[in-house]
Amino acid sequence: MASKSRRSTLLRFQPPAIGDEEVDAVAETLRSGWLTTGPRAAELERRCAEVLEAEHVIAVASGTAAMHLALLALGIGPGDEVITTPITWPATANVIVHAGATPVFADVRDDDLNIDPARVHELVSERTKAVLPVHLAGQPCELEPLWELGIPVVEDAAHAFESRYRGRKLGGLSDATCFSLYATKNVAAGEGGLVATNRDDVAAAILELRLMRRGDGSLYDIAVPGYKANLSDVLAAIALVQLEKLERHTEIRARQFALYDDAIARLDGVAPLARDARDTHALHLYVVRIDAERAGASRDEYQRALADELVQTSIHFLPVHTLSWYRGRFRADCPVAERAGAEVLSLPLSPAHSDDDIRDAIDALGRVHERFTA
Ligand SMILES: Cc1ncc(COP(=O)(O)O)c(C=O)c1O
Repeated sequence: MASKSRRSTLLRFQPPAIGDEEVDAVAETLRSGWLTTGPRAAELERRCAEVLEAEHVIAVASGTAAMHLALLALGIGPGDEVITTPITWPATANVIVHAGATPVFADVRDDDLNIDPARVHELVSERTKAVLPVHLAGQPCELEPLWELGIPVVEDAAHAFESRYRGRKLGGLSDATCFSLYATKNVAAGEGGLVATNRDDVAAAILELRLMRRGDGSLYDIAVPGYKANLSDVLAAIALVQLEKLERHTEIRARQFALYDDAIARLDGVAPLARDARDTHALHLYVVRIDAERAGASRDEYQRALADELVQTSIHFLPVHTLSWYRGRFRADCPVAERAGAEVLSLPLSPAHSDDDIRDAIDALGRVHERFTA
């Protein structure tokens, strides 16, 4: 039986865990005189190359920029197709469009909602120039069968900073692996991104494209029409502090996952996404699926009821091919994703939350479930 008391303040979905250390690091950076890309961005790249076990890490302005530049570095452009998943933040598909290529959506697996390699195999054609999978919520997707295609793989690892695939750290495994430092991410700088790669040619191309460079030394010239996708030292300074806290934050996330796992096992019709014990999960999002029949109400009704309980939730994700600009424009035979898109609900999770905050979310979910199944 769920407890009866409702929270008196809003429990936010994913507040950043920022402390005095980040504030001090920003102040120190501002006083240093380096506001744009400088020594702190370089230090972040060095540190992340160690953590991500990759030869090269290039800091950029966002996870979106990381994926965009990775596709361009691989020479992807008009006439090319890139196979991706519909269960993602639309940026994953947008960057394919930005590169002038065509996204092709492969359906996901029902258990973890990651791209289904069997569907990818069916969609490969002579126009396919890359596969862009996502490691949803922090669970690595099945990479081996994607590598077997012999087509470049660019990983969207926005949720997967700490993830390992069969014991191997995500970062240097595929042609390029793209991370986000957005405000909600496990390493949060507010905005920012990283491209990790073991390929010297990909790293060199991204360095050329990341920032328009006005020649060398006194030579005023443009050899490559580069973007403005560099990361400022102010943000790099925050990310460097967040890296130091990663282990402690992981412990908190693991505790929050355990609390949810234990409680949700008792709720009929509510089930978390599958996690593969062979992999290391980054514990970025706690996503459940609401089976409307067994849980007595739809995901949307659950989300509204939880909001009334002052518990903020989120949705990861609505299938990209069903959103208005994408609808009907690209190949997408994705019934599994469409069903899942109506069922997924992400519960509050953050190192900024106490265990009691998570217990409040669990109690609220219990009360709502009791009401809907009565
Ligand atoms: C799966 C996924 N891919 C890409 C991105 C884009 O990252 P950014 O916001 O840093 O551009 C996000 C979230 O922000 C994401 O959740």
